[in-house]
Amino acid sequence: MKVVTTIKELQAELDAARSAGHSIGLVPTMGALHRGHASLVERSVSENDTTVVSIFLNPTQFNDKNDLQRYPRTLEADCQLLEHCGAQIAFAPSVEEIYPEPDTRHFSYLPTDAVMEGARRPGHFNGVCQIVSKLFAWVQPTRAYFGEKDYQQIAVIRRMVADLGFKLEIVPCSCIREEDGLAMSSRNTLLTPAERAIAPRIYQALAASREFARSHSVAATQQYVVSRINAIDGLDVEYFAIVDATTLLDVSRWDEATGVVGCITVYCGSKPIRLIDHIKYK
Ligand code: PAF
Repeated sequence: MKVVTTIKELQAELDAARSAGHSIGLVPTMGALHRGHASLVERSVSENDTTVVSIFLNPTQFNDKNDLQRYPRTLEADCQLLEHCGAQIAFAPSVEEIYPEPDTRHFSYLPTDAVMEGARRPGHFNGVCQIVSKLFAWVQPTRAYFGEKDYQQIAVIRRMVADLGFKLEIVPCSCIREEDGLAMSSRNTLLTPAERAIAPRIYQALAASREFARSHSVAATQQYVVSRINAIDGLDVEYFAIVDATTLLDVSRWDEATGVVGCITVYCGSKPIRLIDHIKYK
């Protein structure tokens, strides 16, 4: 695997791959890679001739500077994992390489980027669109792989792809979970053992709510999840929204949309760590 840090080196590698007629898979990441990322990379490797993985802790998508500061950084281990998964290129640029000038572009994909995470983390999806649009323009991938754990992020990126006319396929990949159900996330390593022990209760409540939803309204199901999680010492629901799977707008009846998904963010512990998860109802 080739590790490159500049756009020039990246494009030289990609020009060679493209002139050999290779399809190109892109897996954008912020590093601190885990088995969830590995599954995206393995899928890309199985579906493309060349797989590029970007490792870039993108400052413009962090509205909370403490969150950026404490985000785990594990470049050496990340490269080992990527090598093991069979990726051909790791792109690990500096902030100056990506943003030689401040990025003043403003992306707005209402209502998708304004609800849920968008309402609680001002500027977050703007930063995501800034970096992902740059990566798409430089790499020009055939396919780009994103984890469904960040369900809203995929919906926003789909809007951006349609808006800017990128010719690529977005491949959403199912959330990978620990054995106890906790959604894999780079932030999980920040949990203390006591916090790690209660964190799986989030998914347990979501999974149980699928059964509950069969015989209850949307409002009752929403209430069921929130009160079940808030009853656990150390967990505090920031929001739990039951939404149309495409528009991400709240639904009030199960038959209101073809796909319905519940998206949740929970504060865990005293620091606290924000944990995101979701459940598909239909
Ligand atoms: O999902 C992430 O890790 C990030 O938001 C992404 C897509 C790599 C952009 O920085």
